[in-house]
Amino acid sequence: MKGLILAGGLGTRLRPLTHTGPKQLIPIANKPVLFYVIEDLVEAGITDIGIIVGYTEERINIVKNTVGDGSRWDAKITYIEQDAPRGIAHAVSCAREFMGDEPFVVYLGDNILKSGIGNFVNEFKNLGAEAGILLSPVPDPQKYGVAQLDDKGVVIDVKEKPKIPKSDLALIGVYMFTPRIFKVIETLKPSWRGEYEITDAIRSIILSKKYKVISHIVTDWWDDTGTAEAILHANHLILSDLKYKIEGAIEEGAKLIGNIELGQDSIIKNGTVVRGPVIIGKNCKIGPGYIGPYTSIGDNTTIIGGEVESSIIIGDTRIEFDKKIVDSLIGRYTSIVSKNSLPKGYRFIIGENSEIQL
Ligand code: TTP
Repeated sequence: MKGLILAGGLGTRLRPLTHTGPKQLIPIANKPVLFYVIEDLVEAGITDIGIIVGYTEERINIVKNTVGDGSRWDAKITYIEQDAPRGIAHAVSCAREFMGDEPFVVYLGDNILKSGIGNFVNEFKNLGAEAGILLSPVPDPQKYGVAQLDDKGVVIDVKEKPKIPKSDLALIGVYMFTPRIFKVIETLKPSWRGEYEITDAIRSIILSKKYKVISHIVTDWWDDTGTAEAILHANHLILSDLKYKIEGAIEEGAKLIGNIELGQDSIIKNGTVVRGPVIIGKNCKIGPGYIGPYTSIGDNTTIIGGEVESSIIIGDTRIEFDKKIVDSLIGRYTSIVSKNSLPKGYRFIIGENSEIQL
C-alpha cells in the first residue's frame, strides 16, 4: 500500500503567511504539519509516499528542501507536481503513474489527527473495500462533505457542503482508494466552485452499487489547519501532551512552571516566568518577561519584556514589546518592537491580508 499527501492548494485563508510558503509547512509545536502527516503514514506501515506539490517553482522547492527524500523517517518520498490547484480529485489523479496497481491512502497535508490512521488502514485492508472515508461528528456539517450511513454503518451517500445535511458526520482529510478511482475521476465534471471534488468521485462509486465504500469514525480530536484559528487550536491540542525537556540554559531567578521544552543554545533570563505548556526552539533568548501557556516559539527568536500567551511565533523573530500578545500567529523574520520615540504612534510594515487587533 502506498501513501499520497496533498500539499498543493492555494491556502488563501492563511494569507499573508502562504504568500511565502505552503501552509503545510506552518509549524505546530515547532514541527511542520506535514511532518505529523508523514509520521502517521509511516506508523501505519506506509513508507512509499508521494507528495503532491503545487504550481510555483518556489513553493515546490520549499517543500522539497524541508522534507527531503524521506530517509529521516525510513520512508521513500516522491514529489508529484500539480500544475494548478484544480481540486482534491484532480490532485489525486496526478498520482496515477506513481500508484500503479497499489491501493493507497490519501492524506490532506494540512490535517492533524491525534490517534493516527492505523485502525482505518487495517479495516480497509481487511474488508476488501473499493474506497474508505474517515468521518467525524461536527456541529456544523453544512460546511463539509457529509456522509449518510445505513443502520449497519455502510456508506449510502456522500454530499459536498449540503444545505440540509442528512447526518452530522463530516468527511475529514483521509481517504483510501484502489486504483479504480482514477477511472472514476476521469468522468468528473468541475463543481460549482470550479474544482474536481473527491466527494463526487466517492459518490459515483457508491451509486454504481458495485463496490463497497467503508467508513471509520474518529473519536479523538482532529484539526484541519486551514485557518489561523484552527492552527492555534491544533497548537493547544499538541502542546497539551508536551513533556518537560530542557536542553538550553535557565538563569537563576527565572521561574518555570509546568511542562516546558527548551532547545539547545537557548536561554531563559533572570526575571522571566514561563508557565507551560510552552515549547521554545534552539538559539532563543527569552526574557525578562512572561511566556504563558500554549505558546510555541521557533528557533532564533528573541523576546524581551511584555507577555506572550497562547500564540505561535514561527521563528527568526525579535519581540521587544511591553504589552501582552495573545492568540497570535507570527510569521518568520518579523520584528515587533515598542520604542519611546516621538511622534507617538503605532508604526506598521505588514503584508497584504494581515490582521492586527489593537
Ligand atoms: P483546501 O484547504 O481545501 O484548499 P487550499 O489549500 O487551496 O486552501 P484555501 O481554501 O484556504 O485556499 O485543501 C485541502 C488540502 O488539499 C490542502 O493540504 C491542500 C491540498 N490541495 C491540493 O494539493 N491540490 C488542490 O488542488 C487542492 C484544492 C487542495
